[in-house]
Amino acid sequence: MVSRIISVDPFDFVAFGGTGDLVRRKLLPALYQRDRDGQIEDPTRIVAVARSPMTRQAYRDFAREALIDHIDQDEREQATLDRFLDRLHYVKVDATGDAGWGDLAAVLDEAPDRIRVYYLATSPDLFGEICRRLGQAGLVTEASRVVVEKPVGKNLASARTVNDAVGSVFDERRIFRIDHYLGKETVQNLMALRFANSLFEPLWNAAHIDHVQITVAETLGVEGRAGYYDTAGALRDMVQNHMLQLLCLVAMEPPAAFEADSVRDEKLKVLKALKPIRDGQVSDLTVRGQYEAGASANGPVKSYAEELGRSGSRTETFVALKAEVANWRWAGTPFYLRTGKRLATRCSEIIISFKSIPHSIFGGARVQRNELVIRLQPDEGVKLHLMIKDPGPGGMRLRRVPLDMSFAEAFGVRNPDAYERLVMDVVRGNQTLFMRRDEVEAAWTWIDPILEAWGQAADTPRSYRSGTWGPSAAIALIERDGRTWHEDGV
Ligand code: BG6
Repeated sequence: MVSRIISVDPFDFVAFGGTGDLVRRKLLPALYQRDRDGQIEDPTRIVAVARSPMTRQAYRDFAREALIDHIDQDEREQATLDRFLDRLHYVKVDATGDAGWGDLAAVLDEAPDRIRVYYLATSPDLFGEICRRLGQAGLVTEASRVVVEKPVGKNLASARTVNDAVGSVFDERRIFRIDHYLGKETVQNLMALRFANSLFEPLWNAAHIDHVQITVAETLGVEGRAGYYDTAGALRDMVQNHMLQLLCLVAMEPPAAFEADSVRDEKLKVLKALKPIRDGQVSDLTVRGQYEAGASANGPVKSYAEELGRSGSRTETFVALKAEVANWRWAGTPFYLRTGKRLATRCSEIIISFKSIPHSIFGGARVQRNELVIRLQPDEGVKLHLMIKDPGPGGMRLRRVPLDMSFAEAFGVRNPDAYERLVMDVVRGNQTLFMRRDEVEAAWTWIDPILEAWGQAADTPRSYRSGTWGPSAAIALIERDGRTWHEDGV
């Protein structure tokens, strides 16, 4: 099946942090794929900006390497590759000094009316400064927009500072706060599942749903990102943004339209309804962990402390917590969230666990709950676990089986990377899948007390062996309530 590609107007894509990891791993491959599919029109340019001196040819070589590393060989046709590399420019700019801004202006002024996307793939400390200098250099035109990567701030106060600084140069409708989870196909499918079907919505509430689980498990460690990661930790890196956004999409009321502010208004209401986890409850409702050495599918792996190069860090690489959305729809329904690095398998999924039947007519036979499993990665798809009669003679035995819809099998298409969709949305000026300022700040309002309590606690994160499902306290967190974490692939 081939989806219809609607091309976007030509644009200048200015990537600050142009030689960094994000540009190399995600942005160049995403732009390449969109170009390959014919969605990008001439004379679109990609202008990489960074501190080091580099010729245009050297940057093209850098980009070619990046594409070799991140794009399958059969998707790298010579002509497509050449056309894409031809779009690339490089400008040396000092983000915190005066050097280079004039050179950048000279390149961009060749097309003053073209759509400009300023993508800040830099350390968040630079967001405000870069925006200020873009403004000063007269580079913020009517058709300009800015994309900021997460984390926006380290807590509510610093998020406000960043938002103020960016907002003093770009108005809110031109600020695209990216959360790449919202660009994942299955995450968007969650909205289709809920709001394009009449089946689930009547059951989508505390009366019929026992609890919700959201797991984002990674097998990778922090590797080359230890410097950043140690200042963040899993709560800031994953929960404040990706996991809370997933929670919002599960819990929100139906928006009036699939349109930026309608969707974001509903997500904001969920964030504001999150029951605060107060100081005294933090140890009951949250678990943080840090990985020790252990095993992965590729052999032995180091501990977090070894990857970081020092011991004594109190940064968490695992979080499990129990949240509650205190409103009419959800009161009393726990949302269990769990994320961590170096866990047993890579798997991100949302489990909607329906209530048990009120009475069994089947005597002693075990009747398990219905579960809807929305699988983000790998093997994107949706499974609805139902009880059926075990086939064959021999009486009434029951078994739980999944109605299984694997998207790869169903549609047989390449699953685009989240950045492909999101970058095109920026060019189109569609903010539906981006976070509005008030959302980011509401998320920090809920996260801050947990961070503060952890900061003051005498204890350190619980250690867990790499290749396991995290500290045993995370299992106890859910089992105390008579529930268990959904087992991968079951
Ligand atoms: C990023 C985090 O936002 O998301 C990383 O900073 C994490 O630490 C990554 O590994 C996970 O994204 P994905 O798409 O691989 O699930």
